[in-house]
Amino acid sequence: MTDTKKSQHSQWSSRFAFILAATGSAVGLGNIWKFPYITGENGGGAFVIVYLLCVLLIGIPIMMAETMLGRRSRQNPIETMKTLAKEADADSNWHYLGWLGVIAGFLILSYYSVIAGWASAYVLKAFTGSFFSADAAEIKSLFDSFVASPVQLIFWHSLFMLATMLIVVRGVNSGIERAVRFLMPSLFVLLMLLVAYAMTTGSYDQGIKFLFTPDFSKLTANGVLTAMGHAFFTLSIGMGAIMVYGSYLPKDVSISKTVFLIAGTDTVVALLAGIAIFPIVFASGLEPAAGPGLIFQTLPIAFGNMTGGWLFGILFFVMLVFAALSSSISLIEPAVAWLVENKNMSREQACIWSGSITWLLGFGTIFSFNIWSELKIFDRTIFHLLDYLTANLMLPIGGFCIAVFAGWIMKHQHTEQELDMPDAISYQAWKLLISYVAPAAVFLVFLHVIGVL
Ligand code: PHE
Repeated sequence: MTDTKKSQHSQWSSRFAFILAATGSAVGLGNIWKFPYITGENGGGAFVIVYLLCVLLIGIPIMMAETMLGRRSRQNPIETMKTLAKEADADSNWHYLGWLGVIAGFLILSYYSVIAGWASAYVLKAFTGSFFSADAAEIKSLFDSFVASPVQLIFWHSLFMLATMLIVVRGVNSGIERAVRFLMPSLFVLLMLLVAYAMTTGSYDQGIKFLFTPDFSKLTANGVLTAMGHAFFTLSIGMGAIMVYGSYLPKDVSISKTVFLIAGTDTVVALLAGIAIFPIVFASGLEPAAGPGLIFQTLPIAFGNMTGGWLFGILFFVMLVFAALSSSISLIEPAVAWLVENKNMSREQACIWSGSITWLLGFGTIFSFNIWSELKIFDRTIFHLLDYLTANLMLPIGGFCIAVFAGWIMKHQHTEQELDMPDAISYQAWKLLISYVAPAAVFLVFLHVIGVL
């Protein structure tokens, strides 16, 4: 690597800045929009347990590995894999792992931005009082007629992509750090408020029971895959986002402590979202398995009927949009960093290119909620196919390769030095998880899905 390339690569101002940005990446639509609806579709408690186990045994060790790879090489994911493979005398084909990540980032952002567009539209709906005193049926028809309109979805998707690009152009230090600093705590407070509302619905116990009482007979093989895939998705791992953020991380920061903090926060936010939503689902006679529209069909009921709901509704959707923004920028950063560092583009050019591609791809998702809703590929709409392909296949495969690389390919003394764990036992525990437990678990879940197991 030449010095000029190295000097182009920025650095976070502090450990705190990294924590903010990585938490910003992790906490997003995955926690508040996706976790509740896939939990609802997969029967509740048992799904939640598998998800939590995956976060602990697969997600956290891989998140540490991915941060470590990035920090060791201080380059974009494609170059990182090239450099580190060379350092370990391994095959240069490892850089395809970086490519897999860049492609997964595009595909995820293409639908992520559409859903974030829904959240943006709901800021306006909250503002104009659309939820006021509305019942479940009215809120549902509001949502149905909204997603039936390609023009509206295109408008909000475009707006969100534009906002993403504007932040990414400014680089990691200025835009991202400042925004996340006050947004995360505010989102947290609003979620607590929604939980308090959920307690007044009369179905709080039923909601809690649904979330935390496991019934394994309700969990299919694909449900297990979805839970595992979601552990990757929600922690932003397996595609280079955390790797590229790790590459901006100063050397003296403890990776393990930081990762635990981020993963812990991420999990708490998801559980709070679930605790807020399911009591409303049951109290309003809605279906837990309502799908991607779940939060848009439940939370407005709460806002429409609680004191101060007008203001809280606006604030909540604003927070949700910002939480989505701090994730979307990390989805595109690997591609942008690569274009800048390897293709000699300016940050502006890199943003325009990658932003336009993602924006166009987003039309597939938009149409799958209206004019192409009957179009099925492998039995799935385009949106479902993209989600399945990325969250359930590409991220776990990427994560599997990261685990194998960190556990088996990199030199022992390099991982030990880079992770700099507080004691030998924690390092050994990580080594065991990354070399055996995480890759074996991913492999077994895949075997289970194709019916071999
Ligand atoms: N973790 C983000 C969320 O939960 C989504 C994401 C996935 C971001 C992969 C970056 C990489 O919303």
